[in-house]
Amino acid sequence: MKWHNKVTSLLNITYPVVQAPMLGITTPEMVAAISNAGGLGSLPVGGLNADQTLSLIRAVKALTNKPFAVNLFVHPIPSQIDQQAFSDMQQFLTGFASENEIAYMPPVYDMLKFNTYHQQIELLISEKIPVVSFTFGIPDDEFIAALKNRGSRLIGTATCVEEALLLDNKFVDVITAQGSEAGGHRGTFITEGLPPMIGTMSLVPQIVDAIRRPVLAAGGICDGSTMMAAMMLGAQGVQVGSAFLVCHESSAPNAHKHRIQNAPARDAILTKNFSGRWARGIENKLMRAISASGLPTLPYPYQQSLTASIRSFAQQNDLTDFATMWAGQSASKAVRKPAAAIFQGLIEQAQTSFEQIEKHVQVRD
Ligand SMILES: Cc1cc2nc3c(=O)[nH]c(=O)nc-3n(C[C@H](O)[C@H](O)[C@H](O)COP(=O)(O)O)c2cc1C
Repeated sequence: MKWHNKVTSLLNITYPVVQAPMLGITTPEMVAAISNAGGLGSLPVGGLNADQTLSLIRAVKALTNKPFAVNLFVHPIPSQIDQQAFSDMQQFLTGFASENEIAYMPPVYDMLKFNTYHQQIELLISEKIPVVSFTFGIPDDEFIAALKNRGSRLIGTATCVEEALLLDNKFVDVITAQGSEAGGHRGTFITEGLPPMIGTMSLVPQIVDAIRRPVLAAGGICDGSTMMAAMMLGAQGVQVGSAFLVCHESSAPNAHKHRIQNAPARDAILTKNFSGRWARGIENKLMRAISASGLPTLPYPYQQSLTASIRSFAQQNDLTDFATMWAGQSASKAVRKPAAAIFQGLIEQAQTSFEQIEKHVQVRD
């Protein structure tokens, strides 16, 4: 089977497979393993400051000389929020943490400072990052122009046709169609209400028909047959996240990995409780408690900062009841192997699926 297509040539890779950026899970080792295997590793740096971003980029560069992507969060940050709602949520979380013997350091509203992608762009340009991917919006025109002028390819995220058209009109090179099965945050940016929840099977062909750019399918792609299914729908590549959640290079602690592998798909629910943005992850005690409190969640990233210290305590102590465990609807199929072995398996299975389809068509003829 020949893998060369628009995606492989635009991104300068051998196989049209992108390892999804997964903040909190993806390590430089994971990124390099995928890029070295002929796919595109993606380094998530959403919300990090310039120093943290630079040191992660350097860590990847030390491990590979192949193309890789750096992934940004490009959302606006509300300057004003409901301070009473902030303090109610803070009070609730303080009580919850003390009942559960969690060391909680509530953020001080007046001291909150959020990093934005604007502080990272210069760095991406000076580091000559070959591919820049983004979610939660579209970078400002001047940044798109600056990145393109320096030769970076751009990948944007769409959760509906309307978002894909907006990205297409901005000359974004490749568009990821993120179906509702996907783990992690919805990339939605045209509505602040409930995000579009269109499954990969419906979303991919609709976006393929609507735009001029090649499409990557994301959401539920976990093996060769789901990859081939996405390509049959018109995708020219796939972006795979959950299948790498428990790989050797993942930074998820052990009990977290165990829970991901053993959670039925119905446990991977959509919630705003951890961050203030809709995201899919494995339901746990902290999520349920915030829902039961009846309190409104704060807009992203304020809610994120309110729950941060509980979630990082949970991460350090591997307490799945209180940790963020973003995961897609096919996450239980993830296996504990080196990332390169998972990647290689995906490619081999896809070849086999392709041969089976060919055989099937011949039999029918
Ligand atoms: C743990 C986790 C973290 C994620 N973090 C990011 C991120 O930082 N940036 C991003 O663009 N997408 C992020 N995503 C979404 C992925 O890019 C992708 O859309 C999704 O994983 C695809 O669906 P799948 O999980 O079924 O493979 C994350 C997904 C997961 C599971």
